[in-house]
Amino acid sequence: MENIFWHKCWERNTLGFHQSDVHPLLVEYFTSLALPSDRHVFVPLCGKTLDMVYLAQSMQVTGNEISDIACHDFFLDNNLEFKSQTLGAFKHYSCQQLALWQGDFFKLSSKAIDTVDWIYDRAALIALPIAMQQRYVAHLKSFFSSHTRLFLVTVEFPTMQLSGPPFSVNSSTVKDLFSGFNIECLAINELSDKRFAQRTFEVDYLREKLYIIKKGD
Ligand SMILES: C[S@@+](CC[C@H](N)C(=O)[O-])C[C@H]1O[C@@H](n2cnc3c(N)ncnc32)[C@H](O)[C@@H]1O
Repeated sequence: MENIFWHKCWERNTLGFHQSDVHPLLVEYFTSLALPSDRHVFVPLCGKTLDMVYLAQSMQVTGNEISDIACHDFFLDNNLEFKSQTLGAFKHYSCQQLALWQGDFFKLSSKAIDTVDWIYDRAALIALPIAMQQRYVAHLKSFFSSHTRLFLVTVEFPTMQLSGPPFSVNSSTVKDLFSGFNIECLAINELSDKRFAQRTFEVDYLREKLYIIKKGD
């Protein structure tokens, strides 16, 4: 997906991917997986997801998003007072528990942010066409330290029945993309109503999976 595609989504407010609630898998699993020593979570391609508000209850959150509308709306929608400044190619928005780097993920250096204990990916990997997924994961890996865990939520559906985004990402693709990493699939949910946030898909099945991924031992 070209950046212009996403800018247009935000300008036209066509945000079928945006959820009005915190993602159920985050609520169900995150608290029990997080360690008391965990301090910082990175949310790439974050949009204006409410999941960041949830995560900020227990840790410092750093998001990255290409759309300035999304970043601005995130703080406004949640009644959060923020500061903003230009830092190189990025606009940096911040309040006490949250910071958003507005700009292209592929230009964001992991050195710009503190060490991350968690990376939260809901609708980031699956937002990208197959050709971009490898590039995305290659760059994402630069944000991992030895103890970083990735909370990855994917969707699977018959690829011929829906042209993305979202794109179907199955377990063997996850295995290939994160080859050498330790991958655990913690949940598989059949979404019988075929709902994906604000959209309903006409597909034979829609399956959501949660993976926890960390560097191999
Ligand atoms: C499908 S949406 C998901 C947003 C969010 N993760 C959520 O769950 O609501 C994908 C987001 O990635 C952003 N995006 C796409 N390409 C990007 C890039 N190269 N750098 C930063 N953000 C990007 C889009 O603007 C969009 O908000």
